[in-house]
Amino acid sequence: MTKEANERLELEDIQSGVLRPRPAPYAATYLLIRIVDRKAGRELMRRACEVVASAADPNSAAGQAWVTVALTFQGLRALGVPQGSLDSFAPEFRQGMASRARELGDVGESAPEFWEKPLGTHDVHVVVVAVALDAQRLQLEFERFRKIYNQMSGIEVLWRQDCYALPTEKEHFGFRDGISHPAVEGSGIAGSNPREKPFNAGEFVFGYRDETGGFPSLPRPELLGRNGTYAVFRKLHQRVATFRQFLRANSPSIPEEELLAAKMMGRWRSGAPLALSPSSDDPALGADAQRNNDFLYGDDPLGLKTPTSSHIRRANPRDASVAGAARLHRMIRRGTAYGPPLPDGSLEDDGADRGIMFVFIGTNLKRQFEFVQSEWLNDGTFIGAPAEKDPISGANDGTGAFTVPRRPVRRRLQGLARFVVMRGGEYCFIPSLRAMRWLADLDT
Ligand code: HEM
Repeated sequence: MTKEANERLELEDIQSGVLRPRPAPYAATYLLIRIVDRKAGRELMRRACEVVASAADPNSAAGQAWVTVALTFQGLRALGVPQGSLDSFAPEFRQGMASRARELGDVGESAPEFWEKPLGTHDVHVVVVAVALDAQRLQLEFERFRKIYNQMSGIEVLWRQDCYALPTEKEHFGFRDGISHPAVEGSGIAGSNPREKPFNAGEFVFGYRDETGGFPSLPRPELLGRNGTYAVFRKLHQRVATFRQFLRANSPSIPEEELLAAKMMGRWRSGAPLALSPSSDDPALGADAQRNNDFLYGDDPLGLKTPTSSHIRRANPRDASVAGAARLHRMIRRGTAYGPPLPDGSLEDDGADRGIMFVFIGTNLKRQFEFVQSEWLNDGTFIGAPAEKDPISGANDGTGAFTVPRRPVRRRLQGLARFVVMRGGEYCFIPSLRAMRWLADLDT
């Protein structure tokens, strides 16, 4: 790889969904496809190239709706990718998410045997995501994609999940989401934290220098790997009533409930960070994209403002001193909510399925996604509290604890239930547009 080739991010070859933040509000559809016949799968890749937009013009008007195409390891096999090339993919990707369950804390009721089928099975080959600003635009974009596979035999649509922004534009626990995201050098898309330097593109797209100073080892041949990346899809069911009951049981008043919720998340439900507004909510701050992510934790080593165990501080400790360099464990996230909201104030579960389709994008499944999930969210060793897991999405089982640092004495809450249950997911590779054509032209 020449230095010159590394300097410019080849946006015209990268799928737009890799770099473009999801719109707000949004509507999204996830499809899982099985390739029954290799030739049909290749034809699908060829036709999909016509529909998938590149990241070259991430802010264009046409950019209000787009489709992303991703492949599982089984999908690459189903397309007939040669063995030497299959072997060049990361081991975690080759194993697949279900085989990584123990490392990821997908145990107990979150274990793969309870996942929604076909998630986690060898039948899932292609994951298609369509995202738009609203349901109408989504429908149009989705129709464009449906046309390309509708008349095709040899591929089978197995599963579909529709997602819509809730009327509150928050996730189901009631927090503003989609705030903090890293800037990617050369993408032209601004990051959300002015104090965080843009990341070397190799953290998020293959073929470029990453934060270690080297080039991530990319899938071979280079035509297949370059400008591609990995994606993680996880359907995470949220137990909203259980979460609300926990807040109620541990707070003497509604304002105290709000404070406890904020301490668990690290932000007030409005999105305002505790780091900037520690004792009361500030909705104007929460809604202000220029300010709501403009902070670090260096002035709060003990977590008196933002608990060290809160979700956002665990998931990205920023400048706090922890085991592991925060810049090596960043991720692009694209969460979208699914399912109806639980009516305001209700503490009773209504049996509805609701949650987040969690999406990660990055070039290193192990160092980025798996590390954050297993070391930072599901283990408290790095903050000196080995028994504590992330209070929001950690693999808690009713015996967990959550510490709110305070003066003169900290508050220790016991009996953390599991508020988020894994319903299934996949590790995927998002090929570049050139790579999709390469896959379409395979002739083995
Ligand atoms: C249902 C489960 C989850 C919920 C409800 C949830 C909710 C949220 C919310 C409300 C925020 C703050 C807004 C923002 O910065 O965008 C956030 C931030 C974040 N979450 Fe989650 N999340 C969940 C699962 C996860 C998982 C599984 C991971 C990673 C493995 C993760 C990683 C992150 C990261 C990296 C941030 C940004 C932290 C920062 O830079 O300040 N989240 N999440």
